[in-house]
Amino acid sequence: MRKKIVAGNWKMNTDYAEGISLFSEIVNIVRDEKKGDQLAIICAPFIHLNSLSKLGGDVVKIGAQNCHQKESGAFTGEISAKMIKSIGCEYVIVGHSERRQYFAESDALLADKTNIALANGLTPIFCIGETLDERNNGNFFEILKGQLENGLFHLSPEDFAKVVIAYEPVWAIGTGLTATAAQAQEVHEFIRAEVAGKYGEAAAEETSILYGGSCTPKNAPELFAQKDIDGGLIGGASLKSRDFADIVKTFN
Ligand code: G3P
Repeated sequence: MRKKIVAGNWKMNTDYAEGISLFSEIVNIVRDEKKGDQLAIICAPFIHLNSLSKLGGDVVKIGAQNCHQKESGAFTGEISAKMIKSIGCEYVIVGHSERRQYFAESDALLADKTNIALANGLTPIFCIGETLDERNNGNFFEILKGQLENGLFHLSPEDFAKVVIAYEPVWAIGTGLTATAAQAQEVHEFIRAEVAGKYGEAAAEETSILYGGSCTPKNAPELFAQKDIDGGLIGGASLKSRDFADIVKTFN
C-alpha cells in the first residue's frame, strides 16, 4: 500500500525561535492526535534542519526545500545533499515551481538534483505543475508529461520507487484558488498512468502522488478522498500548527 503523506513547506519563513516554537507545537498535536500510519513531514529552511531532526523523532520527519546538484565544491552559498543527510534529514523537495520560476531550474538540472539526492539516501519530493496560461491554453498534460520524462524517467525502477511526486498547479500556489477535487484527480490519474507506462502498473500503484496548492483543513478531506491523491504538499497552512495537524488528521 502506497504511503499517505502530508508534507509542510515553510518556504522562506520563520526565524530560529519561531521555527522551534512552531515545530514543537506541530509535534505535540500530531503526537496526540494522529491515529493512522500517514507520514507527517516538515520541509523547513536550512537553519532549522539540525535542531528539528532531533526534535521530530518518529512523529514528524524533516525535509529540506532544495539541494545543490553537485556533491561538494566551490559553490558559495549552496547546500549539498550530503550535508542535508548528515544532520538527520530524510526528504528534500526538488523542482518546486518557485525554484523553476525564480532560479531558472530546468528539467535537466532537476534530474541531476534528483540523482544526487537519491545517491545520498534522501527521498526526493519531486514537484511538477502547470502555469495558468498552460492550463488555459489546454496543453498542460504535455507540460506535465515533459516534466516527468525529463526530470524523473531516466531513473532505474529501483531508484524511481524511492521518489514521491507532488503535483502543484502553479495557479493554485499561494492564491487561495485551489484546484477542484475533480481537476486534481484528473491530473493525478494522468501522472499515475504515465508512471505505469514507464515503470509498470505495480510501480505506479506504489507511487505516492501529493497535491499542493492552497490545501487547507477545509478542502483536504475532499481532495484526499480522491483515488489517486495520496496526501498534500502544504505551504501557508503548514505555518499554523493546528491547521497543519488537522490536514495530517485527514487520514486518521
Ligand atoms: O509546496 C507547497 C506550496 O507550494 C503550496 O503553497 O500556500 O498554496 O499551500 P500553498
